[in-house]
Amino acid sequence: MKAVCWMGKENIQVLDVPDPKILNPRDAVVRITSTAICGSDLHLYDGFVPTLEQGDILGHEFMGEVVEVGPDVNKEKLKVGDRVIVPFTIACGGCTPCNEQLWSLCDNSNPNAWIAEKMMGYSPSGLFGYTHMLGGYAGGQAQYARVPYADVGPLKVPSELPDEKVLFLSDIFPTGYMGAENCNIRPGDTVAIWGCGPVGQFAIRSAFMLGAGRVIAIDRVAERLAMAQASGAETLNFDDVDVVDALHTMTGNRGPDSCMDAVGMEASGHGVMFAVDRAKQMARIQMDRPIVLRRAIMACKKGGTISIPGVYAGFIDKVPMGAFMNKGLTMKTGQTHMMRYMGPLLERVQRGEIDPSFVISHRLPIGAAPEGYKIFRDKQDHCTKVVLDPWATAA
Ligand SMILES: NC(=O)c1ccc[n+]([C@@H]2O[C@H](COP(=O)([O-])OP(=O)(O)OC[C@H]3O[C@@H](n4cnc5c(N)ncnc54)[C@H](O)[C@@H]3O)[C@@H](O)[C@H]2O)c1
Ligand SMILES: [Zn+2]
Ligand SMILES: [Zn+2]
Repeated sequence: MKAVCWMGKENIQVLDVPDPKILNPRDAVVRITSTAICGSDLHLYDGFVPTLEQGDILGHEFMGEVVEVGPDVNKEKLKVGDRVIVPFTIACGGCTPCNEQLWSLCDNSNPNAWIAEKMMGYSPSGLFGYTHMLGGYAGGQAQYARVPYADVGPLKVPSELPDEKVLFLSDIFPTGYMGAENCNIRPGDTVAIWGCGPVGQFAIRSAFMLGAGRVIAIDRVAERLAMAQASGAETLNFDDVDVVDALHTMTGNRGPDSCMDAVGMEASGHGVMFAVDRAKQMARIQMDRPIVLRRAIMACKKGGTISIPGVYAGFIDKVPMGAFMNKGLTMKTGQTHMMRYMGPLLERVQRGEIDPSFVISHRLPIGAAPEGYKIFRDKQDHCTKVVLDPWATAA
């Protein structure tokens, strides 16, 4: 089959690789019909997350048809022929975190837990296509994928909904929604959201669904700010204003009720502090650039909440812990607990409350994945989200 392989920093190649096989009795094999490139994939592309190996298959936002199931898959939940969305987090369904619906913290789905334990104390769940530290699972930017614990994660979707309307239930819609839920929104609240990438876009819409009165969205990319405005957000361009000052003024000198970092470890910025962060990240002295996190803590109102859907990989410097502590802030974060949200958000799509395909700018054949990664990373050609067709051949 064809698959998008990580061959090194900024080196993506589409290669012919062996088809996946059932390895464990609860595995299924899915023939993938649509797959997407995520902002999280860019951290791998840029070489900032350790424990990738040359030839690893990337991708964790995919859907398709079940073509094979192992003998122990619960046939009432999943069978050959089902059309499914596959969540990016892999969960066993039977451990303590799974029983508490903390799906991205499953105790059993990361066979390389010992690596993550060295960095984090305890290991989160395995993820598709996201390093050996998080399981070493082949990803879904491919024609087929092996799906472990296949009767736990995959969500069946009705045939009348086209792929583009449901594909993002595999990650970014639930991620934006959980990011908004983690803001502890009360009716009428003001929520500031850094990052108008795909995750930020779904976070904006989710914040309104959860009762926010105002959303102030921050980015520098014109078409992303315009997309945020189209959903009712006010916007700030961080190239033009001091965002912390602007938020202060816009909220009657109080600060937003909650502040969301939907940017994560590769945040951009200005001036000396940004240059120092970038140099330290390049030199591997610090793993992440916490530019947005610092600003979110400074901007947030007293007693407010910081929500972080943006991905961080390791250790960060100069986070204003004094402000965080003395202002009595709360911080909530995590890889998304996907299976909590997929069903309810599918219902919203079915009711016509949202059409997630609004975020797509590029539809490419899988062979064009290397260009897809580049234009998405560099925000060229008005790129907001790339969907790959694993079966189309290049024009
Ligand atoms: N928690 C999860 O489960 C989960 C799931 C999916 C994605 N993510 C993470 O969410 C983040 C966003 O993903 P995405 O797909 O939207 O990525 P993206 O890279 O397309 O979007 C990031 C946006 O942030 C903007 N940005 C950069 N620096 C900024 C700054 N200083 N202030 C304001 N905006 C700034 C960029 O211009 C860009 O538009 C990534 O870190 C990704 O890894 C987390
Ligand atoms: Zn993702
Ligand atoms: Zn589990």
